[in-house]
Amino acid sequence: MDDLGDALRVNPEMIFMGGGNPARIPAMESAFDAALRATLENPQERHELFGVYQPPQGDAELLDTIASLLNKEYGWPISRANIALSNGSQSAFFVLFNLLAGEYPDGSKKRIQLPLIPEYLGYSDLGIAADFFTATPPNIELLPDGFFKYHVDFSQLKITRETGALCVSRPTNPTGNVISDDELLKLDELARRHQVPFIVDGAYGTPFPNILFTDARPQWNDNTILVLSLSKLGLPGARTGIVIAHPDMINAFAKANTILSLATGNFGPALARHLLNEGNILRLSREVVAPFYRERMEHAVATFKEYLGDLPCLIHKPEGAIFLWLWCKDLPVSSEELYQRLKARGVLVVSGHHFFPGLDQDWHHRHECIRVTYCQNPKIVAQGARMIADELRRLYQGKQGYPV
Ligand SMILES: Cc1ncc(COP(=O)(O)O)c(C=O)c1O
Repeated sequence: MDDLGDALRVNPEMIFMGGGNPARIPAMESAFDAALRATLENPQERHELFGVYQPPQGDAELLDTIASLLNKEYGWPISRANIALSNGSQSAFFVLFNLLAGEYPDGSKKRIQLPLIPEYLGYSDLGIAADFFTATPPNIELLPDGFFKYHVDFSQLKITRETGALCVSRPTNPTGNVISDDELLKLDELARRHQVPFIVDGAYGTPFPNILFTDARPQWNDNTILVLSLSKLGLPGARTGIVIAHPDMINAFAKANTILSLATGNFGPALARHLLNEGNILRLSREVVAPFYRERMEHAVATFKEYLGDLPCLIHKPEGAIFLWLWCKDLPVSSEELYQRLKARGVLVVSGHHFFPGLDQDWHHRHECIRVTYCQNPKIVAQGARMIADELRRLYQGKQGYPV
């Protein structure tokens, strides 16, 4: 992150295709604006926004509203006892991971198992203990038209006495993959059989913000810990995460969260109350957020395909989230070196090698991928895609045997 910040200071014209900031969507900004105004115009809500600590699990009325939304939408048997708020989902993962894994007083150790890597780089440093993750490299399916897709390799997935929990992001950051319904059910079944919780990171998923370009059935049961966030709706500044789990887990979570933060902030919950009213958040997610990103994604794919031409670069099938994941086969330099070269030319991406927490083998694929975000204005994305393709062409041209 420091490196990205420095790069922006040195070159403010830098094309920023690196970060995970959501796009600006005018209709969403209007909805946030209206929610904030309604909060400020109501004396009681205004007072609660400024002058009252949230209870340990979060505002009870909001928890009830979330529970009834999930009841109504999915039939999940959830009440306020199943829900807690956090200061962003990132901090929820910190608490959950360290509750479920790490070193125990009897000297034993548990780890978080990531059943499909590449996986969210923000998990990497969350463990208080060292050696915190185990991970399973995926099966790679080559698809027509220059796409590919990762699948969980169940033949390699090992759940042992040292596994503290399974965790997947769905849709996945960085790849835009969406673990299929079958894969999700199989992981859930495995987790329950081994009596380890199954954490599903829904930062981009259903019911909100719903940045999904494929059908994906959400699922929850007592063994699932579903973590949602308001960030990718367009509210990363609100720092609001939502954890949905068994009441015992919620209890433990709320206690740890209270030690860490005393209380969650009021801004996100205050807006959420209004956004959740009459299912507004669902309507906005389905009718505004999802179509917006689908259009951006389609434009980004078409643009990259045009510029990449016959270069040996494949795109992960974009099924959700806000990124394209490029696999540059037999890349003549490492993805880190490619990142540095692109930065020097004025375009920031993220080198793929960061997204393999828990991988204990040197897998060449790890150094052949980059993540680009398409949240920027399409013209800027096109400029960035041209520069990335141009640099790749230079690199491949320098390598014997590539007729490019
Ligand atoms: C997959 C995933 N999970 C969790 C987070 C954390 O988001 P926040 O703390 O803003 O809720 C992010 C942020 O980019 C993410 O991409």
